[in-house]
Amino acid sequence: MKRKLGFISVILAGALTLTACGESGNGTTTTDDPNEVYTLQAGHSLPDSHPYHLAFLEMAKNVEERTDGQVIIEVFANSEIGAERELTEGMTLGTVDLVVSSTAPVTNFVPELGVLDVPFIFKDRASAVNVLEGEIGDEIFAKMEENGIIGLSWGENGYRHITNSKHPINTPEDLKGLKIRTQENTIHLAAFEALGAQPTPMAWTEAITALQQGVVDAQENPAIVADQFNLHEANQKYMTLTGHVYSVAVYMMSKQTYDELPEELRDIVVEEGQKAGAKERDLIVEMEKESLKTLKENGVEIIENVDVTPFQEAVKPVYETIEHQELLNRILDAQ
Ligand code: PAF
Repeated sequence: MKRKLGFISVILAGALTLTACGESGNGTTTTDDPNEVYTLQAGHSLPDSHPYHLAFLEMAKNVEERTDGQVIIEVFANSEIGAERELTEGMTLGTVDLVVSSTAPVTNFVPELGVLDVPFIFKDRASAVNVLEGEIGDEIFAKMEENGIIGLSWGENGYRHITNSKHPINTPEDLKGLKIRTQENTIHLAAFEALGAQPTPMAWTEAITALQQGVVDAQENPAIVADQFNLHEANQKYMTLTGHVYSVAVYMMSKQTYDELPEELRDIVVEEGQKAGAKERDLIVEMEKESLKTLKENGVEIIENVDVTPFQEAVKPVYETIEHQELLNRILDAQ
């Protein structure tokens, strides 16, 4: 967080000005000076046409209006200020103020989140939202706070589907030996191993080159990601609609930023952040269909109406390896 004082404050505040212009996390005392402008950096890994970004822009606009320009949110797309894991780490260190990320990399900092990335854990989108916006979601937010991250709202990345360069995938047997890029998340890794593939975890920033160069044959992401990153140009000829993970996303704020903002301004940022998730989810639903159409037009063969039962059976043993069994069972029971 950068802070800048207005002209009058600069004259009055003298030495404070120098301190107040620094980055957050430097232990300076927060003032309620109405001339002080706080600039927050918000980061994510997707293009500026993706719902992650569009909902952030709306949040930024509302925050700027409601604080009379005292809080400015600069939104950085395309991993410009870090990939998801780095962004999350940045929040815990207070070097990044706001982030939206799929939950998988955040699990490395808040293990409880791991349960959300268990394949086929949610019955459908509506059940997922119910769980996340209820008691369970609140408990997970409390765990995040213990780790220096304030959960603002739950968004979504969408249903994850498998794309690959080799052949149509209809059953888990078709995945045997396929080199697939996964997110940096042990549950995804275990699931693809259980399915017989050869998973390689890596950040999204490395994935496109790995696909282009044939280091990996496959990846798994929602249709909108495959479309916006033109994965057909990265050898991805087939997409199987497995929907194996309802990829939850989360709008977050660094606890350091939260603590340093004056209360009145902070409340506005939090309130607007709480609206971002639902807005983003609606946009995903709207845009996802369009993306599937574009992928088809670009020559990607879409394998629809897949029987997911054998995929569900194959990943079942992974459920037993989950650290937070009680949480996992509560999520299952709540649907
Ligand atoms: O696969 C990933 O790493 C994520 O789904 C992505 C594309 C960065 C969006 O959150």
